[in-house]
Amino acid sequence: MKLHENLFVFVLLLWLVASFMIHGSNHHERKPYIVYMGDLPGESPSTTVVDDHHNLLLDAIGDEKIARESRIYSYGKSFNGFAARLLPHEATKLSNEEGVVSVFESRKQRVVTTRSWDFLGLNHRYSKRNPKIESNLIVAVLDTGIWIDSPSFSDEGYGPPPPKWKGKCVTGPNFTACNNKVIGASYFDLDNVSQYPESSVADTEGHGSHTASTVAGSTVEGASLYGLTKGTARGGVPSARIAVYKVCWNIFCSEMDVLAGFEQAIADGVDLISVSIGSLPMDFFRDGQAIGAFHAMKKGILTSCAAGNDGPELSTVENVAPWIMTVAATAIDRRFVTAFKLGNGNKFTGFSINTFSPKKQMYSLTSGAKASNNGTPYQGNASACDPEAISQSKVKGKIVYCLKTYTDPYIKSLGGTGVIQLTQQQSDYSSILLLPGVAIPSVSGKLIDLYINSTKNPKAVIYKSRTVKVDAPFVASFSSRGPQFISSNILKPDLSAPGIDILAAYTKLASLTGDMSDSRYSFFTVKSGTSMACPHATAAAAYVKSFHPDWSPAAVKSALMTTATPMKIKSEDVVLGSGAGQINPTKAVHPGLVYNISFNSYISFLCKEGYNSTTIGLLDGNKKYNCSKIKPAQGTDGLNYPTMHKQLSDPRSAIKAVFYRTVTHVGYGASLYRANISSPDGLSVKVFPDTLNFVKLHETKTFKVVVKGKPMPEGTWTQSALLEWNDSKHIVRSNILIYRQLN
Ligand SMILES: *[C@@H]1O[C@H](CO)[C@@H](O)[C@H](O)[C@H]1NC(C)=O
Ligand SMILES: *[C@@H]1O[C@H](CO)[C@@H](O)[C@H](O)[C@H]1NC(C)=O
Ligand SMILES: *[C@@H]1O[C@H](CO)[C@@H](O)[C@H](O)[C@H]1NC(C)=O
Ligand SMILES: *[C@@H]1O[C@H](CO)[C@@H](O)[C@H](O)[C@H]1NC(C)=O
Ligand SMILES: *[C@@H]1O[C@H](CO)[C@@H](O)[C@H](O)[C@H]1NC(C)=O
Ligand SMILES: *[C@@H]1O[C@H](CO)[C@@H](O)[C@H](O)[C@H]1NC(C)=O
Ligand SMILES: *[C@@H]1O[C@H](CO)[C@@H](O)[C@H](O)[C@H]1NC(C)=O
Ligand SMILES: *[C@@H]1O[C@H](CO)[C@@H](O)[C@H](O)[C@H]1NC(C)=O
Ligand SMILES: *[C@@H]1O[C@H](CO)[C@@H](O)[C@H](O)[C@H]1NC(C)=O
Repeated sequence: MKLHENLFVFVLLLWLVASFMIHGSNHHERKPYIVYMGDLPGESPSTTVVDDHHNLLLDAIGDEKIARESRIYSYGKSFNGFAARLLPHEATKLSNEEGVVSVFESRKQRVVTTRSWDFLGLNHRYSKRNPKIESNLIVAVLDTGIWIDSPSFSDEGYGPPPPKWKGKCVTGPNFTACNNKVIGASYFDLDNVSQYPESSVADTEGHGSHTASTVAGSTVEGASLYGLTKGTARGGVPSARIAVYKVCWNIFCSEMDVLAGFEQAIADGVDLISVSIGSLPMDFFRDGQAIGAFHAMKKGILTSCAAGNDGPELSTVENVAPWIMTVAATAIDRRFVTAFKLGNGNKFTGFSINTFSPKKQMYSLTSGAKASNNGTPYQGNASACDPEAISQSKVKGKIVYCLKTYTDPYIKSLGGTGVIQLTQQQSDYSSILLLPGVAIPSVSGKLIDLYINSTKNPKAVIYKSRTVKVDAPFVASFSSRGPQFISSNILKPDLSAPGIDILAAYTKLASLTGDMSDSRYSFFTVKSGTSMACPHATAAAAYVKSFHPDWSPAAVKSALMTTATPMKIKSEDVVLGSGAGQINPTKAVHPGLVYNISFNSYISFLCKEGYNSTTIGLLDGNKKYNCSKIKPAQGTDGLNYPTMHKQLSDPRSAIKAVFYRTVTHVGYGASLYRANISSPDGLSVKVFPDTLNFVKLHETKTFKVVVKGKPMPEGTWTQSALLEWNDSKHIVRSNILIYRQLN
């Protein structure tokens, strides 16, 4: 199912409902439903499609006349399906018919807290699901543990763990038992970093609960953070099971613990592994996460990892092994904003997640500069509200204007009642502060400073945050960018997913900010980071797997990459920031073609990359691979990757790259794919052959992509092209990126 068409149907049907009500009708007991039937059947002319729909309706309703009258519309241009007015039992009957993908009532979408899933088109009500297979999927979350008492981990309505589950449940303080949602729990503290005399998987940070609930949290109605974005919270695959591996203590994760977590998870029989943990790029045989994920891949388990939060600088991407799915963060179309008003009536809007409602109409306002303690006892930057630089008596009970962020703990400790903080950076995410506060750009800052200096009794009030709609997606400023230098011709990050201002489960073992002086505790909180993007991609992979349980990790990743939505906002580094683009889970279920990678082709890739029997042995735990006996991997990158990438180490060299690829047909019946290349002037991209004719499922075809161009002009460091295979039903998209190293 395609997102755009899905939305189109929804809009169309709302209109139908409206006109139906205006014109009145005696069908009032029937409600409009959409019966979605997937892709169009082969070459059949549309008249038979309409007949099919009528016959299905006749079957469900049993009366020729009513069946004819109840059909509202037949879709037959880009997918198969129809809209009809049905009674609930007729809808149920239809949903069990062969060829029917899903049947859903066309009613108004409710406000949902986990907006990110709706934004991605994976709507709770309107997306086809495979609940039986989904509930047999086990997702391992390697993180800070879990707070199992959260309503997001309630197991009401869940059956026993799937029989393939071989893991255990280790209990301890604040974690007394597993349940049918959180089916397993293990912790690893090989480095003895836990300060607690007794350990357990209990989440004292909230990070692990947040990521786990984003993947597979149960549905919770009425979730919110202090009333902000009230609605329904849920994970991407709410029927799936969670296996918890606590490998991080506070925010630190020892590599040996992480690797132990991987090993345990693989042995326990999980289907996917989600790791929102950074890992600086290293040779793969020295990189715990690369090693763990390599073993997982060998067992058919896909590992999804965060790309890192070190953007927007280039070459900051982490977790770069080609068998890992490396996830960048993008924004969803909702942002938290905080308004404030000055005593002169001027209103401003900034960013923060302010849970506090003002108790007074106005508060006294001052600035760090005016509240300086004049250097006693230490010299400090008072305008920046640096610790020790402010006089307590001058800020007590006041809102303080500071020239930098993260001043809230200090101002709170002095008895201030709020902060207005200047932010130098692009501020595309919002933070929870210890007291009423807001971050603003320098343009507004100047006006505030002027106001404070120009009046005797400056005043201000900061309002509780609200959410607004913004244009999205775009790559988060903090999201780490490519290129990478470990396997320099593999483009990373792979794809992107929502990671800004994400609401998900939290822990009651920590206050909202984690600060001791904070007395706010909440079941849910809002966080930003590639840590939040990673579990979205994990869930999307699980969703694809629930339709294709036998697909390899590379096939699942390929499906998510080639169907991703490219970023709307174009810039030189957009592909280095977002990879293939933002995941589109419902589209990824029907990718048409996949770029599959076998275990052996990873080995020949490693040989090509200069790894040898010893170093592959470190990675794999098996020294039997002798690169001189293995058929060498071909082409610039030597791997059947869904994107194509070449780095030029000599900035003056001409561009020349050759990529050999094999695609597997995963659509139905015969398909003729044509290549469509978009490339900039001066970059020649040719595909041989440029048509691929498939006659049966799982057939494979190989092709070659030749990229040629003159040396890149001064001041340019990337050239980006696009290869799309199109059979008029599927678009299989691959980015081609040439990167010129800077020196
Ligand atoms: C966590 O465990 C400790 C020790 O067993 C207990 O005192 C505390 O109340 C627990 N906290 C919560 C929120 O359950
Ligand atoms: C951690 O503590 C255990 C038991 O006290 C000890 O055997 C082990 O060597 C310690 N590990 C490290 C890395 O210090
Ligand atoms: C104080 O900090 C602000 C914000 O970081 C900066 O702009 C300013 O130059 C600093 N002042 C001094 C005297 O260092
Ligand atoms: C406001 O006054 C402070 C010191 O009291 C000074 O540092 C700052 O530059 C003034 N701002 C403006 C815009 O005049
Ligand atoms: C991909 O390759 C693996 C073996 O490496 C195979 O099991 C699988 O069927 C192939 N196709 C897909 C779509 O996963
Ligand atoms: C294998 O590669 C490693 C690291 O590059 C190197 O130190 C080692 O000497 C190589 N071993 C052989 C047998 O070539
Ligand atoms: C790998 O194979 C080559 C050629 O057959 C042989 O000369 C070499 O000794 C082998 N290396 C190892 C480490 O077994
Ligand atoms: C090729 O792709 C471009 C960009 O996506 C599109 O505008 C164009 O219509 C496509 N051409 C064909 C022949 O499909
Ligand atoms: C795919 O091919 C169809 C039929 O040739 C064409 O109508 C459509 O515009 C193409 N789509 C893209 C994105 O190139």
